[in-house]
Amino acid sequence: MNKGSLFDYVWLRIRVSSSISSHISNNTITPDNSMLFSSFDKYIRIYFPSNQSDDEQVKYSDYHYFWLRHNCDCQPACRHEATYERIIDSSEVPLNITPLAVETAIINNERVLKIQWPAIAQLEDTDTVHTSVYEWRWLEKHAYAVNRQEMDHIPPDVASVIVDYSQWLKQYADPQQPSKLTDQGQIEYRRKLGQVLKQHGLVVMKNRGLDTESIIGDLLPEGKEVVSTHFGRIEDLRTDNTTNVNTDQLGYTNAGVDLHTDQPFIEFPPGMQLLQSITPADEGGENYIVDSQRAALYLRKTDPYAFQLLSTIPVSFHRKQAKFESIQNRPIIELNKAGEIVQLRYSYFTYAPHLINFDLMEPYYRAYNTFAELVRDQKNQYRFLLNSGDAVLYDNWKCFHARTPFKGARHVRGVYFNIDDVHEHLFF
Ligand SMILES: [Fe+2]
Ligand SMILES: [Zn+2]
Repeated sequence: MNKGSLFDYVWLRIRVSSSISSHISNNTITPDNSMLFSSFDKYIRIYFPSNQSDDEQVKYSDYHYFWLRHNCDCQPACRHEATYERIIDSSEVPLNITPLAVETAIINNERVLKIQWPAIAQLEDTDTVHTSVYEWRWLEKHAYAVNRQEMDHIPPDVASVIVDYSQWLKQYADPQQPSKLTDQGQIEYRRKLGQVLKQHGLVVMKNRGLDTESIIGDLLPEGKEVVSTHFGRIEDLRTDNTTNVNTDQLGYTNAGVDLHTDQPFIEFPPGMQLLQSITPADEGGENYIVDSQRAALYLRKTDPYAFQLLSTIPVSFHRKQAKFESIQNRPIIELNKAGEIVQLRYSYFTYAPHLINFDLMEPYYRAYNTFAELVRDQKNQYRFLLNSGDAVLYDNWKCFHARTPFKGARHVRGVYFNIDDVHEHLFF
């Protein structure tokens, strides 16, 4: 596995909150067009205009909403009317509080930020909207995240993981057999698949055709075989399956299947899976994949305690079907002795009840939820629809995959591979 450094990427969310943006004018534009603030899911970014030259970096700072609400200085609700001492405690402010509305104004020649908050039930000033006013000068004086960097994140771009076979045929078609690549073309094609797979953990092969064995030939060195599982050698993921065994599981229904790794309940889950679309659904059936190793690296940076819990506390992955049963007790994030991430296992539909020390149960659930929130955030996912003849290959140790529910006779073939075999053949 390629080694990811702790500081390789800061992976953060930069989208304006969809839940609040409808209530908030996202960015207030000053007459000179400079931005004063932007609202995000959990915090607001305040810009401090400077009189310096244009090339000087704009100064800004981020403020958590709960921090702002805690620091409201209104009287008499938040400060004593006579002594001005704070009379609310931070524990009374919900950590997930978000504004109802945000605007800026000029009061007494001072630029201020006005935030309207939902009422907090346990405080006395309930059932009305609570308005806080913060002077820009106060915000600047108390800035605790000046020019916070969180933009190294490269948002998943589906175009960057697509390798279109029809384009390769244009350049490298074999004159004798125009539907195939020349030997040199085949080598270059495999090299390209390997590059994309190495960089992103997945590669979408567009227009590769319906011949499953020929795709297997692209990925495996001579003499190597695919990895068979308790479903069989090749899975026909369709609701009317007749070619596999042990089909009493979600994959063979038309239900949505949210993010997971495959086969976490066996000792050595296959390292790669190919999903080849034979017949797309009439409706739905989109795939989405997230680079969960990258998410884990991000978690290690932003929430080391959560990372520690998820990488040290084992949980049980238990697959129990009518004629198959297997169980593995492993941490979700598996590290090697050097502390590098080796493999992830993640599967909400196969967890046995967690048996964790009482005092760690709640922190564990919290850590899990923090990680889940990252990977389930759509803007961290590659989302695409495979048409007939398209396929995707992904690393089952470092990516989570999922599909949306669907209608119609969707047929997808699934094939597992040994990770080293694929790496060898794709010139890793
Ligand atoms: Fe799966
Ligand atoms: Zn107040």
